[in-house]
Amino acid sequence: MYKLSFSDSPAAFGTMEANHHRLRRNAMNKFFSSKALDRYEPHVHATFDKLIERLSVARKTGEVVRMTSALKAFAMDIISHFALGQSRNYLSEPDMGHRFQISLLSATSLMHWTRQSGLLVALFKRLPMWMTPILTEAPDDVFNDTHLILDPRKLTDAEREAAFGRKSGKDESVEGEKGEFSAPSQHDSLMSFLKDSPQLPPEERTPARISNEAHAMLAAGVDSMSNIFIVFVFEILREPPSRFLEPLLTELREAEAELPHPAALIPYRNAEKLPYLNACVREAMRLIPGVLGRLPRVNPHEAMMYPTTTADEKGEKQQQQYQRTFCFPPGTVMSMSLKDMLWDAEAFGPDPRAFRPERWLPEAGGAAAGSPQRARMERCFVPFSKGARSCIGLELAKRELFVLCANLFRRLPGLELFDTTADDIDPAFELFGPVPWEGSRGLRCKIRDV
Ligand code: HEM
Repeated sequence: MYKLSFSDSPAAFGTMEANHHRLRRNAMNKFFSSKALDRYEPHVHATFDKLIERLSVARKTGEVVRMTSALKAFAMDIISHFALGQSRNYLSEPDMGHRFQISLLSATSLMHWTRQSGLLVALFKRLPMWMTPILTEAPDDVFNDTHLILDPRKLTDAEREAAFGRKSGKDESVEGEKGEFSAPSQHDSLMSFLKDSPQLPPEERTPARISNEAHAMLAAGVDSMSNIFIVFVFEILREPPSRFLEPLLTELREAEAELPHPAALIPYRNAEKLPYLNACVREAMRLIPGVLGRLPRVNPHEAMMYPTTTADEKGEKQQQQYQRTFCFPPGTVMSMSLKDMLWDAEAFGPDPRAFRPERWLPEAGGAAAGSPQRARMERCFVPFSKGARSCIGLELAKRELFVLCANLFRRLPGLELFDTTADDIDPAFELFGPVPWEGSRGLRCKIRDV
């Protein structure tokens, strides 16, 4: 699943063999640590300011905003700067990267084919570029961008220079496995960090391998983020303001007392402590899983014992009557989908797919801290998955999420939905992540002056 979904990419995400995956992932851990991301937060703030600047134009003109594009552009501008050292700057483009977003989606749709067989992966990689629009049914004109995804060894000139400096010798591409680059730059992007990593042997530090790693971040860090922003904005705005928006704004205005001045942005560390905001963010993360399909795991060394029920869940008498334990031998591939946990009715109640922040707030009738119900909710709350392959981008994701969710409605209290229904948002099919139905026009908003 990992190897073929990512077209046999040499990035950690596409690496199947456990030891090799660990080597690649461990080399990146420091760059993704909480401390490193604290230093990176100002960049998230600057990109957020740009988003607001862009949306404020729509407030003045009264035009309808493609909010899905704006939120994807926000995530893309951050992750491209973080991974490649150069922001793609979609927030500055007239369509906020909408064209690129279509191309990414259509390129990703090939995954349903490549997943079936390594032979198909090899075949697609050999096809000329002009065949891609035919295979993906995308408009031709998006494919100048798409090649960056289908063939991540190709970088823009600025990205190549930001990470590697100028290449010595004749060949200016980064395709050569043995290509060498001069002028090591500062470790301000994942690519430049990995290029000099003492944890990786030389064959893991080739430009081709490293640019694949960075591009995997673009694939992993845009839709996963923007889907949650979209659900957050949609759920808050679809109800009358007294339901979610007003309690949220009340909490955020109280939090302004701790800022250097009331107009400053609420930073991540302050935002994550706000109970109502935290509950809303959790609900958005629960409703739209980062990965929709099954995530496989294999234990090559030990058998896995799987009891069908426990005394806690069914009571002691029933346990004696029904309990059976299945034994899966070492090497068995076991997989499950995050949504089975995130939408579990035993943990989250009879309405697991409803946006209901109160379920996390004891004072509003939610499960009390330390109660078995709360413990079950926490156990099932796995938006970033678990174990050795869980999300490495978690610390960046939390900063993006909390900065955006804590400040969007403060900056634009007049935001309102425009002709958007749940059908435009809800997952309808799977392209690794969830995707709404083909006719979805995405989240659209108008911004009133208040
Ligand atoms: C809130 C937003 C995000 C969510 C919900 C999310 C969710 C996930 C999930 C569920 C997985 C694990 C899949 C598995 O078990 O195999 C995963 C893996 C991954 N995520 Fe995220 N993600 C988010 C944001 C990001 C960001 C911003 C980045 C990039 C900085 C990122 C990079 C990755 C990578 C590289 C992996 C693969 C890790 C590995 O194979 O070791 N994610 N993500």
